[in-house]
Amino acid sequence: MSLTLERQQPLSTYEGWQTFVDARPLPEPEPLTKRQIRSLDDRARDEYDSARRAFHRDTLVRTDQLRDANDQLLDLLESNMQGVDRVKGAGVIDAPPGLGKSTTLNQFGREFHRRQVARYGETMEDGALHIPVCRVWFAGRMTTKSLNGMIFDYYAHPAGRFRRRSATEHNLAATAAEAAVRHGTRLFIVDDIHFLKPRTNDGGQVANQLKWLANEYPVTFVFAGVDLNNSGILEEGRLLETAQTARRWTRIPMSPFTVLTEEGDAEWKKLVKTVESRLVLGRVDQEVQAQGRRVSMV
Ligand SMILES: Nc1ncnc2c1ncn2[C@@H]1O[C@H](COP(=O)(O)OP(=O)(O)O)[C@@H](O)[C@H]1O
Ligand SMILES: [Mg+2]
Repeated sequence: MSLTLERQQPLSTYEGWQTFVDARPLPEPEPLTKRQIRSLDDRARDEYDSARRAFHRDTLVRTDQLRDANDQLLDLLESNMQGVDRVKGAGVIDAPPGLGKSTTLNQFGREFHRRQVARYGETMEDGALHIPVCRVWFAGRMTTKSLNGMIFDYYAHPAGRFRRRSATEHNLAATAAEAAVRHGTRLFIVDDIHFLKPRTNDGGQVANQLKWLANEYPVTFVFAGVDLNNSGILEEGRLLETAQTARRWTRIPMSPFTVLTEEGDAEWKKLVKTVESRLVLGRVDQEVQAQGRRVSMV
């Protein structure tokens, strides 16, 4: 099973998202020497290795890029939340795979969630759960039906189980939007948006629904995807453009590390150092170290 699946699967429901939001950093496994590791019995070694793997996977490196992205996204959310009448902007990270788009958005979503709950509490006035963030991701061929289905599933909305045949797509979209309003959702994270093909019938309808949601409801959309410039999604602000006003996009830059500039080189070295300091590797046995020193002194 790939890491992406492991992480994404549970985040498809608000319970999974909540667990992610509440998760505290894992404790660092006790560093052992290689000899100590070898002397563990199979079961203990297996447990130790899986604790180390989980600890490494859990490590988030707060790179300058991640910090900048957080600041920009927070600015966007705060300014969107200040005035309902103002034209709302959407955020977008358009970058090649593997650069940390999903990590950045999940991390930001988690911090935003905690902040909103600290400000406004865990429940809404009518007792409904306060769920500040909804997160969906695109895959394969997206239709309004699959988009609404994802939203219902996220909120555990009964419409997800009892989708009435007679319900029109518009009704379903309105029901999905009401779920977001009922739970005080302010941020919609839409990951892997490159699967949306706005020039096809299905894709055009999905784009229209997203547009409609963003216009009618007080939610800010933040998208992540690959090669969006050439997919017709960002072209002329297409996806979220309204008839009257071209929407403002906040583009969050995300680029690969480079050692070709002084600044890039320093950032890269900082990353390697941070990763190194977090790695729990089997330490060389004392005697071997001592022997090594003796040899080098000879
Ligand atoms: N700041 C970070 N700290 C630690 N690991 C990271 C960070 N950014 C990305 N990663 C790791 O790099 C891999 C790719 O990141 P991901 O967010 O899935 O990229 P993308 O969504 O751009 O394809 C993942 O395994 C992720 O855990
Ligand atoms: Mg991703």
